[in-house]
Amino acid sequence: MSTFSILIVDDEILTLNNLKKALEREDYEVHLADSGERALEVIDRYKPDLILLDLMLPGISGIEVLKTVKEMERETIVIMMTAYEILEKAVEAMKLGAYDYLLKPFKINDLKNTIHRALETLSLRIRVLEHLESEKGRYYFGKIVAESKKMSEVVELARRVAGSDKTTVLLQGESGTGKELLAKAIHYHSPRSDKPIVDINCAAIPENLLESELFGFEAGAFTDAKKRKIGLLERGDEGTVFFDEIGDMSLGLQAKLLRVLEEGTFTRLGGSKQIKVNIRVITATNSDLAKATEKGAFRQDLFYRLNVVPITIPPLSERNEDILPLALSFMREFNRELKRSFRGISQEAAQALLSYPWPGNVRELRNVIERIMSLYVAEEVQFSQLPLELRNRQKIAKQSAIEELVPAASFLTLDELERKYIEKILSHTHNNRTQAAKILGIHPTSLYRKMKGRS
Ligand SMILES: Nc1ncnc2c1ncn2[C@@H]1O[C@H](COP(=O)(O)OP(=O)(O)OP(=O)(O)O)[C@@H](O)[C@H]1O
Ligand SMILES: [Mg+2]
Repeated sequence: MSTFSILIVDDEILTLNNLKKALEREDYEVHLADSGERALEVIDRYKPDLILLDLMLPGISGIEVLKTVKEMERETIVIMMTAYEILEKAVEAMKLGAYDYLLKPFKINDLKNTIHRALETLSLRIRVLEHLESEKGRYYFGKIVAESKKMSEVVELARRVAGSDKTTVLLQGESGTGKELLAKAIHYHSPRSDKPIVDINCAAIPENLLESELFGFEAGAFTDAKKRKIGLLERGDEGTVFFDEIGDMSLGLQAKLLRVLEEGTFTRLGGSKQIKVNIRVITATNSDLAKATEKGAFRQDLFYRLNVVPITIPPLSERNEDILPLALSFMREFNRELKRSFRGISQEAAQALLSYPWPGNVRELRNVIERIMSLYVAEEVQFSQLPLELRNRQKIAKQSAIEELVPAASFLTLDELERKYIEKILSHTHNNRTQAAKILGIHPTSLYRKMKGRS
């Protein structure tokens, strides 16, 4: 941050001038005001970072000035200056959000130290706010690529459910389909966006540890519990708790979680005090929770409690229209990050991307693009730069396509073969003719003509 600006408000001109001199020597930008009215004008105009405010002012009082400052959007630090006789006023000011107070007369050094400390707090607060803003920006719905109908429906549903404060969401989808991305987008678009989202990966933490991570514990709860620990549920209070891989939670812990959800209270391990929490729960799983429920591996009552709004993210292979837009979006991201200037994808490489089944879904695609862009400096992604599995896959796809189209021991005319192949590609692209034409290597109008010629 550049130089901080300080406004000094006092009705004694001598005090104003002395403080101004002392603070300018510290390289602060200093403004002065000799009344509450004047102070409000200066605040409006110069938006100081810190205000040194005398409580005893004629006209608009120091307390009034403080109240106005605290109602503003900006983060401004207020330090009160007060005489001993009206110390109770300083207490009132602290309750209204003043940072600190100095008893008159004070030493210049004490003033400098207080200001220094206050400005450090301010920088930290600003940094935290900026971080929160950039987190929000990262999970902006607009950044989620959703060209396909299936995915845009998913995003639309997530957007709608984000607005309702407490609704529980269950995200289902294969690994790498974007469950975490969606969970965060929902949180950062909910009324709780200024509060934390805590995530817990139920598969990554051993069962006994998971319980103490969730609920926290009191000192002495077990041998290693030297100090009290606040659990994740408490840390997520007023915010969102994201349970990733919920299908891996043990049955015992499921029962305990259900109780928290129903009653909104719990106790730390080894404790007896009921702790109240207000959390929104989002869960994710890549297993079929309904099936697990039937088999008794997942509690039915908890399943119903979590499955209020189920959102299923389809695998990437079921939404081919997203592949190239995703690849291009990752390309823009890595251009920035790796200082590259890729502009597009060659026809042949695009075809390979479109015909690969993407078992690792969007994450795999992102990794492929990242790998190419860190290895090569070029304008276009070329077929030859693709990993082996993508290049091989195309050959296999071509071979098996023929076998699939022409049943063993039967023969087709060229016309019949062409018709079958076009049908197959069209079904693969969900009747998207532009994409089908791309794969077939012909112009969309020729594809249209071929289709028309047949009907
Ligand atoms: N529609 C999308 N638009 C942009 N980026 C996406 C999209 N879907 C996923 N991603 C990106 O793909 C990567 C994987 O997504 P994410 O971690 O959310 O998947 P996941 O479903 O939680 O996977 P897992 O089950 O393995 O934990 C992330 O980098 C994410 O930002
Ligand atoms: Mg995940």
